[in-house]
Amino acid sequence: MLGDVKIIAHRGASGLAPEHTMAAYQLAKEQGADYLELDIHMTKDGKLVAIHDADVNRTTNGRGKVNTFTLSQLKMLDAGSWFNQKYPEKAMPHYRGQTIPALEEILKEFGSSVNYYIELKRTQPYYKAADQLLKILRKHHLIGQKIPRGKVIVESFHAGILKYLNQQSPGLMLIQLSDNPANINFKEVSAYADGVGPNFSKISRAFVNAAHQHRLQVHCWTVNHETDMIKLMNWKIDGFFTDYVNRARKLMDGS
Ligand code: G3P
Ligand code: CA
Repeated sequence: MLGDVKIIAHRGASGLAPEHTMAAYQLAKEQGADYLELDIHMTKDGKLVAIHDADVNRTTNGRGKVNTFTLSQLKMLDAGSWFNQKYPEKAMPHYRGQTIPALEEILKEFGSSVNYYIELKRTQPYYKAADQLLKILRKHHLIGQKIPRGKVIVESFHAGILKYLNQQSPGLMLIQLSDNPANINFKEVSAYADGVGPNFSKISRAFVNAAHQHRLQVHCWTVNHETDMIKLMNWKIDGFFTDYVNRARKLMDGS
C-alpha cells in the first residue's frame, strides 16, 4: 500500500475511452477513480459543457469554437468516433455517437455517487462561468454547509478566479494549477487555495515538502506510467491526474 493518494480521472478514463464523454466518466467510476475531472467551457447560449479544447475540432466531427455553438448545436456532434478511428485497438461500438456533455447532464447522471474535480478553462468569460458554476453546484447540492469539503474541487491556472471563488464560496476546495512550479509562492497561494497542481515532471521531493509546510496539498498532472506514480507516491503527494485510473488503482490497492 502506498498511502491515501487521490486518483483523479483526467478527462474521465481518457486513456481507454473518448475524453469528456459519459462513457469515459462511467469507465472512470467503474475503475475506482476518487474524482472525475471535468474541463469546462461555456457555450454561445451560456451553458457550461465539458470539453478540454476551446474548439471542437480535435474531439468531434465538427469544426469551430465551442463558444460559437449553442448547447443544442453542440449536442448534434459526435464526440466519440474520433477515438475509435485514432485508437482502433481500444475502439468500442458504444463510443460512436457519444456527445459533448453539459455539466448539468453529468451531475444528473452521477449525482453524489462520485466526487468532481472541475477546471474552468481559460478561453471563456471567466467570472460569468464561475457564477454559473456555483449556481449549478448549489442546485445539485454539491456545495454548502452540510457537504463535506472536497466533494467538489475547483482547479484553475488563473489565480484571480480562484480568489473570486474563495470569496464567493469559502467552503469550496480550490487548487492552483501551475506549469511553472518553481515560481509558485506557497505563502501567497495558501491564502486562497487548499493546494497546488503542478506538472509532475517539473517538481522534486523538496517541492512537495515545501508545499506541505504551507499546509498545501499537491495534486500532480498528468501521471500515466507506473514508475512515476510510485515515485510521486513515495514523495507523499496527495493526488494525481491520470488517463489510466485502472493502473493507478491497481498500484494503490497493491494487487
Ligand atoms: O487540470 C490539470 C491538468 O488537466 C491540466 O492539463 O491541459 O489536461 O487541462 P489539461
Ligand atoms: Ca484539466
